[in-house]
Amino acid sequence: MPSMIEISNLTHIYGEQRKALDDLSFSVEQGEIVGLLGPNGAGKSTTVKLITGILKPSSGSVKIHSYEVSKNLSKIRQLIGFMPQETALYQDLTAQESLVYHAHLYGVPETEVDSRVASMLEIAGLTNRKDDLVKTYSGGMKRRLALVRSILHDSKLVILDEMSLGVDVQSRNLIWNQVRKMRDEGRTVLFCTNYMDESEALADRVIIIDNGKLVAEGTPNDLKREYVGEYLIEVLVENMDSALGAEWLAGELKLEVEKVSAPLDGGPRTAWIRSQSGHSDLPIVIERLTKRNLRVKQASLREPSLGDVFLTITGSKLRD
Ligand SMILES: Nc1ncnc2c1ncn2[C@@H]1O[C@H](COP(=O)(O)OP(=O)(O)OP(=O)(O)O)[C@@H](O)[C@H]1O
Ligand SMILES: [Mg+2]
Repeated sequence: MPSMIEISNLTHIYGEQRKALDDLSFSVEQGEIVGLLGPNGAGKSTTVKLITGILKPSSGSVKIHSYEVSKNLSKIRQLIGFMPQETALYQDLTAQESLVYHAHLYGVPETEVDSRVASMLEIAGLTNRKDDLVKTYSGGMKRRLALVRSILHDSKLVILDEMSLGVDVQSRNLIWNQVRKMRDEGRTVLFCTNYMDESEALADRVIIIDNGKLVAEGTPNDLKREYVGEYLIEVLVENMDSALGAEWLAGELKLEVEKVSAPLDGGPRTAWIRSQSGHSDLPIVIERLTKRNLRVKQASLREPSLGDVFLTITGSKLRD
């Protein structure tokens, strides 16, 4: 079975010199839900615009179901449903008109248009507002409309760029449940996100990019083990001198130290310590710190999150 998406050596340069993607390669298999993660400006939106054929790559190739995107645009449009980061909806149409227009544009059979549009309005929770102009909608309503527009023509591949940008918890739950439903229906989903909990909740696999390059990929669990370890011990230390950094602490504890915080107000510092054995390491850490006359205010053990992985891989420096 061919991959649903196959990206090979993709480079994209905006204008004369802004290299947004740099020799990027990855693939997405049929039926997979993949999260594309990366700091602001990493190149996520550029990647999905190349996949959907909105942009042409400077070099490299994108294939959907073995079709080269740049040479098969009309075929590709049938296969893909796309929800862009900047909601692009006709503001002077109603939701009903907007979906009917889209259905015609994407070749939904005439006899099915009315029923499909009605069911999409229902899914989006917009049935009772369907005759209001889009420009009178809240941000969440527009996002929900953009979501159902991406599945209206029964697209096999759904690409969602920041699906829950600016929406409330209720709308986000609705959107997430739709993505779960897409999985049950066997669709392939590639979504870009800045929210780690979104990736944790939905992605079978994540791909992390930074500065237009792939930096890691794998299931959330594999990435946690590979980059952080089984557990993280978090200790809040009242009197740790700022001269004593992560390296010193690692030497004292004989454990790997992920990082030590440096609060601007000189307050208590937090250290994150990697541990393979969990509970048995916790008292050892407290004991060794106490021996050094360091006062532990709080100590806890937890499993690493995707956020820990993300920070380990991409660092904490601002990007753009
Ligand atoms: N139309 C454009 N013209 C010039 N440069 C652009 C354009 N669009 C994006 N860029 C640049 O390309 C790089 C990647 O941008 P992109 O929008 O793909 O990032 P992103 O990962 O989606 O970020 P975000 O998380 O902020 O949405 C950035 O340096 C950005 O400034
Ligand atoms: Mg983006």
